[in-house]
Formats: sequence, C-alpha cells, structure tokens
Amino acid sequence: MVKIKNALGLFDGISCGQVALKRAEINYDTYYASEINKYALKITQKHFPNTIQLGDVKQWKEWDLQDIDLLMGGSPCQGFSLAGLRLNFDDPRSKLFFDFVAVLKHYKPKYFLFENVVMNKDIQDAISKELGVEPILINSGLVSAQSRDRLYWTNIPNIQQPPKKEINLKDIIETSLLISEVRGGMLKEYFKHDEGKISPRGLCHIGTADLNGFDSIKRVYHPDGKSPTLTTNGSGNSESKISTSETTWRKLTPLECERLQTLPDKYTEGVSNTQRYNSIGNGWTVDVISHIFRNIK
Ligand SMILES: C[S@@+](CC[C@H](N)C(=O)[O-])C[C@H]1O[C@@H](n2cnc3c(N)ncnc32)[C@H](O)[C@@H]1O
Repeated sequence: MVKIKNALGLFDGISCGQVALKRAEINYDTYYASEINKYALKITQKHFPNTIQLGDVKQWKEWDLQDIDLLMGGSPCQGFSLAGLRLNFDDPRSKLFFDFVAVLKHYKPKYFLFENVVMNKDIQDAISKELGVEPILINSGLVSAQSRDRLYWTNIPNIQQPPKKEINLKDIIETSLLISEVRGGMLKEYFKHDEGKISPRGLCHIGTADLNGFDSIKRVYHPDGKSPTLTTNGSGNSESKISTSETTWRKLTPLECERLQTLPDKYTEGVSNTQRYNSIGNGWTVDVISHIFRNIK
C-alpha cells in the first residue's frame, strides 16, 4: 500500500481518478475535486462522500489547499478534438487547460497527470511545452473491450504500455437482457463474419442499422471485436451498437458501457440513462489510470 498526502482532481467528472487510486492501492488523506456538472457530482458523492468539492476550476485562486501530492485532470476536450472543429486555445473550453497549468504551478504537486484526446500535433506540442513532458499514447483496448486512444502527460516515471488483455465485447455484454429493456432494430446490411474483418484497432464492423443519420451511428459491431470509443453524446442513437443475430442489433446498455471503461458495475446508477451514457463517455478508462498510478512509489 502506497500513501500520499492529498490528491486534487480537476474536471473530476465521476471521479474515475479516485476509483483508479483505490484500484492501484494508493491511500490518500483528502481528495479535492473541481467539477460543475450536477449529475457527475451526484455519482461521485454517492461513492466517495468524503470528497471535498471545490466547484468551478476558474475560481481556483480562492482555494487554499495544503499538501497536494497528486494533481490530475482531463479538461473538456471538444476544443482540442480532431473529430471536432479543430478549434484551439482560443476556444473557451480549451482555455480551461491553462487553469490546469496554473494550479500545477501554484501547488507544485509531486506528481501530475493530464489526459486528453489525440489532437493536432501543434496543439499537442504546445501542451507538452506547458507541462514539460511528452505524452504517452495508450489505447484502452489493451485493458478493455473499448478502442479509445488517449494521450497522457505525466511526471510519474517509467510509464510503459499496459499489458494486453484479450477482452472483446462478447466478454462484457449482458447476456440475459430482455429485448424490451434495450433499444435495437433490424440490420439493413450484414457482412459475413469473415468479411467483417477485425480492424487493427480490434473492431469488427459487421453491419448497418436501420437508422437515419450519420454513417457513424449506423455502424453495428460484432461481439467478437471491440466497441468504438464511447462519446459524451452517447444518447439518442449514438451509443455503440452490437449485432444480436444476422438480422438484428441493439445498443449497449449503460452497465456494458461502464465495463468498457472498467468501472465497477452499476457505478453510475441513480441518474437517467442519458446522463449515465454521457458521464461514462466523458470518463476515464479506470484500468489505464490505475496502471499509470502503480508507478507512484
Ligand atoms: C472530459 S470530462 C472529465 C471526466 C473525468 N476525468 C472523469 O473521471 O469522469 C471534463 C469534465 O470537466 C467538467 N468541467 C467543465 N467545465 C468545468 C469548470 N469550469 N470547472 C470544473 N469542471 C468543469 C465537465 O463537467 C466534465 O465533467
């Protein structure tokens, strides 16, 4: 068991960082969190009622915290995302990154971890310059049934890729679901399994759902492969979909999405399904973070 003094999670969401500390068997005195989403706060406080919530990160100058050994955070990524509009530091959401930097400089913790999406190299380099370290790219698919590329900047030493576990959707799906419990539909196209090749990222795109909208929401995956990256707007029709036969598909349930992030089962129960999908998609893959934290000695 490793012991640190206090930890501070910025943009703390549902506190996947705290779940990861526990999993890595790192004890801490106080966990401070900065988060503003009421659903995320509800989920965090349900599991970690001793968390001291500090509110909006922009008010950080009003905080007076002592002995922060570990600072962690993944600022809202829309402004950085390649999938988005390629916005940059002028985007107000990206500017929150500079609050992370300011808090880092002010509290000088022993360790820090900053997480974000894969982004334009210029922006990535600008972040590396601010933080003084280069990021490591880890795909959550190494430890879970979700392909999710994320960048991790940290001064925790000697971070290597986590050992590969062979986990696919079929290993995490709920098998005894009643069809009425989960939304699904018919497949418009079904590619034979051997044609639905497993991609280098572990995905097996097997068919097309009978939905209107972007191609990305119509993609149906075979349980023999992995889920694509969970997103924050995992409601409506944008949740990951799996084939349940050669003619039918269904959405993944919130519990299955928790498993894709290696969260404890039912972790986000207590808010609506829409909020569960959102907060899970926003969250961290716990086993990736605990893998990194295990190098804290
Ligand atoms: C990408 S998510 C991070 C999720 C988190 N790593 C987790 O474990 O769930 C970004 C979070 O930043 C929060 N956020 C946005 N603006 C904020 C602000 N001004 N102060 C604090 N948190 C903020 C959002 O509500 C969201 O939960």
